[in-house]
Amino acid sequence: MELALYHPKWGYYSRPDSRVVGREGDFFTSVSVGETYGFLLSEKIRAERKQGFSSQGPFRIVEQGAHDGQLAVDIVTALLRLDPSELGEWEYCIVEPRATVREQLRKRFEKEEVLRAEEAEIRVVSSLPEASHPQGIFLCNELLDAFPFDRVAREDGQWGEKQVGIEDGELAWVTRPLRPELVPFVEALPRDLPDDYATEICPAVSSWIEEVAQVFESGTWWLIDYGFKADDYYASHRSTGTFRCYRDHQASEEPFEAVGETDITAHVDFSLVRRAAEKVGLNWSGLTDQHHFLTEAARPWLLSMEGQVPDEVVSKRLRQFQTLTHPGMMGKQFKIASLRRP
Ligand SMILES: C[S@@+](CC[C@H](N)C(=O)[O-])C[C@H]1O[C@@H](n2cnc3c(N)ncnc32)[C@H](O)[C@@H]1O
Repeated sequence: MELALYHPKWGYYSRPDSRVVGREGDFFTSVSVGETYGFLLSEKIRAERKQGFSSQGPFRIVEQGAHDGQLAVDIVTALLRLDPSELGEWEYCIVEPRATVREQLRKRFEKEEVLRAEEAEIRVVSSLPEASHPQGIFLCNELLDAFPFDRVAREDGQWGEKQVGIEDGELAWVTRPLRPELVPFVEALPRDLPDDYATEICPAVSSWIEEVAQVFESGTWWLIDYGFKADDYYASHRSTGTFRCYRDHQASEEPFEAVGETDITAHVDFSLVRRAAEKVGLNWSGLTDQHHFLTEAARPWLLSMEGQVPDEVVSKRLRQFQTLTHPGMMGKQFKIASLRRP
């Protein structure tokens, strides 16, 4: 999976021309719905900052998994529109390990009108330690669902690992004994899962949380993604797990077709996120859905429009708000895990 998604030349997320997100890509994300997502997150950021942080010294917003940097532009644009005099009080920093993508992001930001006009900067660094700062907010949208995961399956009462092998010259699933590093994750699964049950585990989440927890001495971490708590994730009816492949907005369970041109993803186990975060001293402030998270952020904006006939710009934003928050659209599926260290 790591090669299929991140091989420097052939990986799905490494194609320089890739239009993977949005109408012309393979799947939608909240970012691709439009600038309303960044606008509402900027409201949340300002509220969070007022509530929980010292006003001394600049405050850093760190984003990882930023793809083409659209969310960063939307958040910074909204912060500047809300109050340009606050510029200098916050900094925005993207973590992007691949040099080619860092270069693309820097070029894009050089051209952004709003950044040039206000002399605002979005920094791009190559690792989490480089982004570290005394205080701030970390956020990632659909980063964890793109981490390479391991697939495990139960056969004859024994857990094994489904690895990618070659059969008759073609890529195929092969079942092998569990590698020792996967054993603790499999031992945490419910005991009563039936034979022929297959699912995913993602040890990469645990090691990443150890690292991301070091970004701030004092901070808030918002991990935004689709996923479930363990009792729902590993329910007996999810007998083929949650992994999916996306191409041209079509979902499949065929990772071996069009390798490098297909997204591969699995839902996030938020119970694992919580365990890993608490182990490294972060406080779990809760898991909420996007409907509740963004509707709370939108309240002042919605109240400010009461009794007015919306113009074209406002109508567009209201349509985006509906897509992001309606329970039948993105409102229930996407969740926000909030972590804090005071
Ligand atoms: C599903 S896309 C989401 C893109 C964007 N955040 C959005 O919501 O539209 C996942 C992104 O995470 C990036 N990614 C995966 N692992 C990463 C890592 N370790 N550091 C930074 N970005 C990573 C991928 O390259 C890809 O751009």
